[in-house]
Amino acid sequence: MRILITGSAGFIGFHLHKHLHNYFDVTGCDNLSSVCKFTQKLRLQEIKKNKLKFIRVDLNNAKNLSKKFNNKKFDFIIHLAAQPGVRISQIQPVKTINNNLVSFINLFEYAIKNKVRNIFYASSSSVYGNTENFSENLSHPNPVSVYGVSKVANEYLAKTYNFLNKINSIGLRFFTVYGPLGREDMSYYKFLNSIKNSKKIEIYGDKTSKRSFTYIDDIVISIHKLINVYKKKKSYLEILNIGNSESRSLEDLVKIIKNIVGVKFREKYVERNKADVYKTSSNNFKLNKIIKFKPKISLEKGMYLFSNWYKNKVSDKIF
Ligand code: NAD
Ligand code: UGA
Repeated sequence: MRILITGSAGFIGFHLHKHLHNYFDVTGCDNLSSVCKFTQKLRLQEIKKNKLKFIRVDLNNAKNLSKKFNNKKFDFIIHLAAQPGVRISQIQPVKTINNNLVSFINLFEYAIKNKVRNIFYASSSSVYGNTENFSENLSHPNPVSVYGVSKVANEYLAKTYNFLNKINSIGLRFFTVYGPLGREDMSYYKFLNSIKNSKKIEIYGDKTSKRSFTYIDDIVISIHKLINVYKKKKSYLEILNIGNSESRSLEDLVKIIKNIVGVKFREKYVERNKADVYKTSSNNFKLNKIIKFKPKISLEKGMYLFSNWYKNKVSDKIF
């Protein structure tokens, strides 16, 4: 089976590519536009080292996409390329919309022309906004960021392409994914960087905000299992949460980091961005029913694994 992964020089895309290439014929593509320059460079080195098939492509440019993909016939596309990040979408709204909507449409049009029937694409917990109800059946998502809106729009577009063109798809609503080679613009990574540079860690608002922090391996396993289930299906249109069922506070995250690092650090409180939701909590009922699996790696274990990687590949100064 031939799979195309977009955004494969990104955090989730790289790990997925590295895992799936042991089972399928996988091609990755990316335009290398991530704001996380440091980790994108490390991932590119890993792509080369692991001899993963990689093509540099900007999905915002629809011209000759088939040619760029060497006219290869893909059975599945896993579309992860995007400008991720809630807070940056408020600073770079146009880049967010271009990379999350224009690219999305270009890719679906490419799929129609090239008879690719199956697309899994990254949605986000950000579609929920400030709520206590994290069920996919919620009829009206209520995003509070440009990023969240871009992901809701992706879900509507996927539904429309399914209706008009019979493209099967699953929108994967990931929840705050972290781990080795993760993005240096996210909380857990920024905190270690600040501690390394003897700076105070910045807490947005207070430490009561909660996230379903989800370790990368749980995401990769879930997607692999979904491929195995859906490759046998002729027609489908789904939205699925994939996140750790345990929602943990920033206070927990900071305590875990305190237990891991060997140096003292201080905190600085800065104003919370209104686009940041107070809480996410993944409801995995649907996912578990389909693949008999749900993300389960604890924040303690995941941060231990992340910090080991950080110690080896970034700096051992604080351990
Ligand atoms: P990432 O930034 O590390 O990866 C995205 C990749 O897409 C980057 O390498 C970037 O260079 C590439 N890209 C952007 N625009 C492109 C374009 N026009 N053409 C080709 N490539 C392009 O982000 P990630 O954390 O790996 O996230 C992957 C997907 O999952 C994104 O769609 C993101 O919105 C979504 N998501 C991530 C999280 C998370 O916590 N990491 C949570 C929810 C949803
Ligand atoms: C993450 C990803 O960055 C998004 O790409 C993704 O779409 C989103 O998850 C999702 O689940 O949909 P976020 O939850 O904001 O977004 O992830 P972090 O940057 O790790 O932030 C977690 C919490 O820490 C938030 O409450 C944030 O306000 C806080 N934070 C972040 C700080 O207090 N200080 C910081 O320096 C950074």
